[in-house]
Amino acid sequence: MLVLGIETSCDETAAALVEDGRTILSSVIATQMDLLKKYGGVVPEVAARRHTELIGYVIEEALNKAGKSKEDIDAVAVTAKQGLIGCLLVGTAAAKTMSYALNVPLIGIHHIEGHIFANKLSNPDLPYPHVCLTVSGGHTMILYVAENCHYELMGTTVDDAAGEAFDKVAKFLGLGFPGGPVIDKAAQTGNIKAYKFPRPLIYAKNYDFSFSGLKTSVINTFKEQVANHEALPLPDIAASFQEAVVDVLVAKTIKAALERGVKALSVTGGVSANRRLRANFQTAAERNGLKVFFPSLSLCTDNGAMVAAAGYSRLMRGERSTLELDVIPSTPLEMTRGQD
Ligand code: KG4
Ligand code: ZN
Repeated sequence: MLVLGIETSCDETAAALVEDGRTILSSVIATQMDLLKKYGGVVPEVAARRHTELIGYVIEEALNKAGKSKEDIDAVAVTAKQGLIGCLLVGTAAAKTMSYALNVPLIGIHHIEGHIFANKLSNPDLPYPHVCLTVSGGHTMILYVAENCHYELMGTTVDDAAGEAFDKVAKFLGLGFPGGPVIDKAAQTGNIKAYKFPRPLIYAKNYDFSFSGLKTSVINTFKEQVANHEALPLPDIAASFQEAVVDVLVAKTIKAALERGVKALSVTGGVSANRRLRANFQTAAERNGLKVFFPSLSLCTDNGAMVAAAGYSRLMRGERSTLELDVIPSTPLEMTRGQD
């Protein structure tokens, strides 16, 4: 079954063609980097307007790259839940149009479920049950994944998402946007022990996260150094901040996996591209007899292939959305089962 996956929930206009939920024939992502640099972040209305300009070309390019025509498409999957409302509306309008014109099924997907399937696309042998850390610019959560499409929320962030903390700290340090990749790069030459930043909630009994205090601590340290006319070792600040985020994410996810008695961990979302996070997860997982899985780098951040893969799985379960499919900017993943 050839599924067209469409993703426009934030600042990437993306479309992909995926065969049987496993084989990516094409994946086209148009980033809005010029706008992000100009405004220092995502401006919802501006992002939505850019999606309307790009979506037609991106879908056409996905078809061209796959060597397919519109008539080859068997179903359309689209991110309809979790994201910026204006941005979600552009993707769902395009998906409904394709579904109606081609007379093929439509399925609305929760963005977080898309990220979860990115890892299944990269690692078809990812076993169930497993514990999944989904960590990106909009969310940071630990899920117990009993089986395909069955999720139990174990913990989530009570304030900033981890990627959001990377973005805000990088912006404050003047390193640019998006913050994750630039901090990841700057940290390569920095000393992780140069600054002792807090590890919020690392010893808490629950699996919730909080990154706002850590972010403020980094910003205050930076301000103090500027006020005292001290040299600003940006790589050291970046490395010490990144280490604090990674320590918390790794410790809590491993603890969750051990408590639930699973043998496998899945780490997904934009922040799962982080090199230090991957290395430290690998070491900690091995030490605890666990196997950790990551998506390939091209599937960590937002893309259409993960939406197509999630859509295929839901279609195989007999689920369908109607042309009344609504967009929901914020809703828990657990509520996404069944008909829309
Ligand atoms: O999954 P994604 O594309 O969008 C959301 O669903 O939010 O994730 C984007 C986030 C941004 O906050 C970005 O800074 C972060 O992922 N990110 C990284 C890295 N690459 C992207 N964070 C840390 N290290 C990276 N290498
Ligand atoms: Zn995302």
